[in-house]
Amino acid sequence: MKKVVLAYSGGLDTSVAVAWLREQYAAEVVTLTVDLGGGSLREGVERRAMRAGASRAYVVDARERFVRDFVWPHLRADALYQGVYPLATALARPLIAQLLVEVAQREGADAVAHGCTGKGNDQVRFDVAVHALDPGLTVVAPMRVGMGLSREQEIEYAEARGIEIPVTRESPYSVDVNLWGRSCETGVLEDPWVTPPTDAYDWTVAAHAAPAAVQIALEFEGGVPVGLDGERLDPVILVERLNALGGAHGVGRVDHVEDRLVGIKSREIYEAPAAEILHVAHRALEGLTLTKDTLRFDRIVADELAQLTYDGLWFSALHRDLRGYSLSSQRVVSGEVRVRLDHGSAVVIGRRSPLSLYDRALATYDKDDAFDHASAVGFIEIFGLPLRTEAARHGAVGHRHGAAWSWTEPLLADLPTSVTDPEVAGAAG
Ligand code: ARG
Repeated sequence: MKKVVLAYSGGLDTSVAVAWLREQYAAEVVTLTVDLGGGSLREGVERRAMRAGASRAYVVDARERFVRDFVWPHLRADALYQGVYPLATALARPLIAQLLVEVAQREGADAVAHGCTGKGNDQVRFDVAVHALDPGLTVVAPMRVGMGLSREQEIEYAEARGIEIPVTRESPYSVDVNLWGRSCETGVLEDPWVTPPTDAYDWTVAAHAAPAAVQIALEFEGGVPVGLDGERLDPVILVERLNALGGAHGVGRVDHVEDRLVGIKSREIYEAPAAEILHVAHRALEGLTLTKDTLRFDRIVADELAQLTYDGLWFSALHRDLRGYSLSSQRVVSGEVRVRLDHGSAVVIGRRSPLSLYDRALATYDKDDAFDHASAVGFIEIFGLPLRTEAARHGAVGHRHGAAWSWTEPLLADLPTSVTDPEVAGAAG
């Protein structure tokens, strides 16, 4: 290994890794820091990288591409891992991996490196993505192959080499942030029974501490948001605004025991106000604009895409093709959604779309009802045919029919029942 590109956050771990890689492999170290918003870019990160011994320090502002190319496809698909996690950390990894590969190729490096440990998902995501994009690159994870130092040892190691030690107070948690969300784990959170302490949260207030509810209106085009309260906004600004607004109203907290790819269950606290608001609003608009068959099929796509992303398989053909399906089927998901942010919850209170499939003339119970009630009879006749046939041949499931497979006891015999017959009713009247 002659030259390695390290994914560099500017924190203590990766600063030590710069020096460690140089010493261990006698390699030149180039750092890559990717700004993904949400506070992921530390000030003075280039200076820190150079002091730690990097030969070059790249800083890339990828916020816009992150939202457009990585976050939006998941919003379009309603993809949430295990139904709750908006995948902020997981979505950032393929983007960072791609940049690592591009910088490595530009620099003529033969390896890339990252600061992941050996028991998380992120190591898998980086390794797998890098090798999909450039199988010739070696991937080194210092924490996985011997650097494993305690915080005290890292500080000692850094001091001995004149490496800048970040002044930020030591967090009791392991935290990862970007525009799409904040992930927080370890420390006291490792007991899933323990209430997350206040300091586990940084983006959101507690629901009870939120101010009076507010209403917002979101505009969507082709399944992605383009405006807030009548103002067209760039994706990054839109997400930032919703994070601030949602966070101030306590929206977007998730407390989840999650199944990692490496087989471990782990307790995670997520804060993702914009993600929660946008997912809720997006689903409401889909309900108006997509058919029931598309909606049903999309549940499968959502789960599949979430799983593939979580598992680090972004650069697989299946992932790409599912994104393609989603992009196509979302072409009609345009319109507006009104959402109330109310003490920790984001509640849809209205939706409309020029492409709406909702037809009031069909839905109404008023006099201008256009639905043909009489034709329901023939419809039910045909629709119910298989069930009537089955019941006739096999007996209706739920009724005693022979001894072997009567699942359900009769209801009437067992339930308190009052019967009023005509004489009694007459006598009382
Ligand atoms: N469990 C999440 C994931 O695998 C988040 C991990 C984030 N890392 C952290 N240090 N909290 O995507």
